[in-house]
Amino acid sequence: MAKPVSIEVWNPNGKYRVISTKPMPGTRWINLLIEQDCRVEICTEKKTILSVEDIISLIGNKCDGVIGQLTEDWGETLFAALSRAGGKAFSNMAVGYNNVDVNAANKYGVAVGNTPGVLTETTAELAASLSLAAARRIVEADEFMRAGLYDGWLPHLFVGNLLKGQTVGVIGAGRIGSAYARMMVEGFKMNLIYYDLYQSTRLEKFVTAYGEFLKSNGEQPVYWKRASSMDEVLREADVVSLHPVLDKTTYHLINKESLATMKKEAILINCSRGPVIDEVALVEHLKQNPMFRVGLDVFEDEPFMKPGLAEMKNAVIVPHIASASKWTREGMATLAALNVLVIVLLLAFFKFRYVWHLFGKRIENISCFSSVIATVLSIATLSQSALQGKIKGYPIWGDSNRVEPFLNESVPPPAACPSIVNAKALGNIHVYLFQSYKHQRSVRVAVRVVSPMNVKFGV
Ligand code: GLV
Repeated sequence: MAKPVSIEVWNPNGKYRVISTKPMPGTRWINLLIEQDCRVEICTEKKTILSVEDIISLIGNKCDGVIGQLTEDWGETLFAALSRAGGKAFSNMAVGYNNVDVNAANKYGVAVGNTPGVLTETTAELAASLSLAAARRIVEADEFMRAGLYDGWLPHLFVGNLLKGQTVGVIGAGRIGSAYARMMVEGFKMNLIYYDLYQSTRLEKFVTAYGEFLKSNGEQPVYWKRASSMDEVLREADVVSLHPVLDKTTYHLINKESLATMKKEAILINCSRGPVIDEVALVEHLKQNPMFRVGLDVFEDEPFMKPGLAEMKNAVIVPHIASASKWTREGMATLAALNVLVIVLLLAFFKFRYVWHLFGKRIENISCFSSVIATVLSIATLSQSALQGKIKGYPIWGDSNRVEPFLNESVPPPAACPSIVNAKALGNIHVYLFQSYKHQRSVRVAVRVVSPMNVKFGV
């Protein structure tokens, strides 16, 4: 029998039980849940990483959805427990979900949410900060000052690398990789070399345009190159930042051999996932190459570091804080809560055929006739409405890069899941989402109808 874990409860009489395994920043996510009749239980246990047993104990016998963290092991055991408790929704409060066994979630018909879009710039900013800190040896210099060792200016004191005119290499030019590349190119006038399976035309255009702007200003232009292999990036770049997802193909992408191909004075940044780097090989490389520097936000055996890393002066190390800006963390909490909430409400809808959940207002026992009228009206207003993406399966937001409508606190959020990673796999629900807004002076009335058609639910 698992030990009970301490919780804080909001809206104790709420109809749907939603659990958050950690207190999360901000209060909007809590308000959104309780406005829709959820009882919100937040685990307040003074333990950084909850075990599977702790989470099973939190789930209990009846649970509609869980918001969890990237430190938790969401596999077969937890999805089975959630499913037994009647739950159909889980969301990681993270964009990465390598801690989640999505196949197990599919097996139990549990939707898995993540929180893309909102952490792009914040994460890229940390990667840029680590790049600068490593290039200019800021942490070493700070330690030196605090230790009272500074006794006067010296020509050789903490000499580092100038970034301007050097080449930044990006491995994985998706959302975060591209945002980082832009910052480094625009901010420090670096050339770009990137490796990605997909061509990043937008990024290329950006660098070309910026290069032309510099030229027209009489300055040295910047250039870009799409590498045909990752090795090409490692060989040519002065600063390399890693932005791939972690999977079997990217595990130990950076190892003894690949490190040996990098420049002796290169800088390596990792804000993706720890196991992308063979950390033992990295420590050895740092020892052998004192001018090689690294900036790490993530670690192979998080929260632990491989022996020797903490002693390396040429390593800047921070505790997985890449997404840690207030705006981003509050936004992640909101997105995770909405992923769970929308599924919970939809499933409730399927159970009680004639309950229409309207955000901000719930009308019970609406007659069949009025349902038809509501549907017709919603179709009629479709042209002026925001039908987000192709809504087949769960209502999923069409563009996970553009999540601002969920984050704007002055209007109700769209009635869609910001991001469900296994929506296709669970796609035997066909739901169409119609949404329209009517402005009445300063009051905004949101009418949203979630209308299931061709319902074949039961995964
Ligand atoms: C953080 O690492 C995330 O994946 O959101």
